[in-house]
Amino acid sequence: MEDTSEKKSSKGSKGTSDKKSTAKKSTAKKASEKKSASKKASDKKGAAKKTSEKKTSEKKVTAKAVGEYIEKVVLDAMPEADGMSDKVRDAMVYAVEAGGKRVRPTLMYLTYKGFSEKLADKSLRKKHDKAIESFIAAIEMIHTYSLIHDDLPALDNDSMRRGKPTVHTAFGEDIAILAGDGLLNYAYETAAKSFIVSPGDTDLEKALLILASKPGLYGMLGGQTLDVVLTGTEPTKEQLSYIYSNKTAALLECAVTIGATLAGISGDNLDKLQNAAYYVGMAFQVQDDILDVTGDKDVLGKDVSQDEKNGKVTFVTIYGLEKAAEYVRQASELAIGLIDEAYNNVMKDAADNQYIKLLKDMIIKLITREK
Ligand code: IPE
Ligand code: IPE
Ligand code: MG
Ligand code: MG
Ligand code: MG
Repeated sequence: MEDTSEKKSSKGSKGTSDKKSTAKKSTAKKASEKKSASKKASDKKGAAKKTSEKKTSEKKVTAKAVGEYIEKVVLDAMPEADGMSDKVRDAMVYAVEAGGKRVRPTLMYLTYKGFSEKLADKSLRKKHDKAIESFIAAIEMIHTYSLIHDDLPALDNDSMRRGKPTVHTAFGEDIAILAGDGLLNYAYETAAKSFIVSPGDTDLEKALLILASKPGLYGMLGGQTLDVVLTGTEPTKEQLSYIYSNKTAALLECAVTIGATLAGISGDNLDKLQNAAYYVGMAFQVQDDILDVTGDKDVLGKDVSQDEKNGKVTFVTIYGLEKAAEYVRQASELAIGLIDEAYNNVMKDAADNQYIKLLKDMIIKLITREK
């Protein structure tokens, strides 16, 4: 079983100075008493205004509103037609517009919003509120490229994806390969645009490095490589763990750690969030394998029994459906525990934030998802 390998986090928060002003009663003039009374009243007014401001800034955020926001950010970032390379551009847009659950950009956004209250520098926070949009779009482009290539005849040879014919089925294999390349490249072009919002920002540099490494050789690409190399063979449990943690969990770690980094989280708390994303990613792939056996093609939007057809050994073939489902539950619980720990370390006594609640709700929903 998996090792949580948790490090104790060092908490270095400053105490909030609770200023309680003690009004000195003097026998002096009434005027000064009047003045202090009116000051008190205006302080009260100020406090009331603050509370109402807080109320408005804390207006209810729904999963639906977050979903619509993510959808808009992703679609708005897609490239325009230029009249020459439109075929590949159309295939890129086709794949992204086909939909999908948008799990990775949503995880990124909720992590960012859940923790960014911590950013003391308000002007930086404002810039990051905008800059994160480049990364939200970029990670969905990278994920979509990985699906286009994963579906190719040379890999899993799938004909349905997101409820539509796969890109190579609709546009041909040549264009599908190029559309994957196009999305991967355009993802970095899009992410790099975040520097227009915040030039010289070191958090953006860190985020870009995460976006460059997690989908790559020592991440998603490495996992996909061992997955295809071992197709038709009996991988060891260690090899299977490597495949899952890289082909799937790495991109979820990418999403969460970029969100956390732009929220100013580092060190042990960043490690906790990365571990949380790792567990969500492992659970996500195991649930994907379960659905390949038990799912409904129309609900899933992709063909079922593909793993068996392709001779893939999965958690389900090794451990059986029941144990696999138990693993999904346990890994998701571990993830939620780690998010709570990181949140409590960073935010101290703060009540659970709406975005953190949505983040945890989403993880719980993924356990029983049917698509
Ligand atoms: C499918 O990912 C590939 C896996 C890692 C299992 P998703 O299940 O997130 O696919 P979409 O984005 O919703 O289509
Ligand atoms: C794919 O895993 C993971 C990727 C990096 C694309 P699968 O091959 O199991 O994903 P599906 O079932 O085709 O969506
Ligand atoms: Mg595959
Ligand atoms: Mg596949
Ligand atoms: Mg699958």
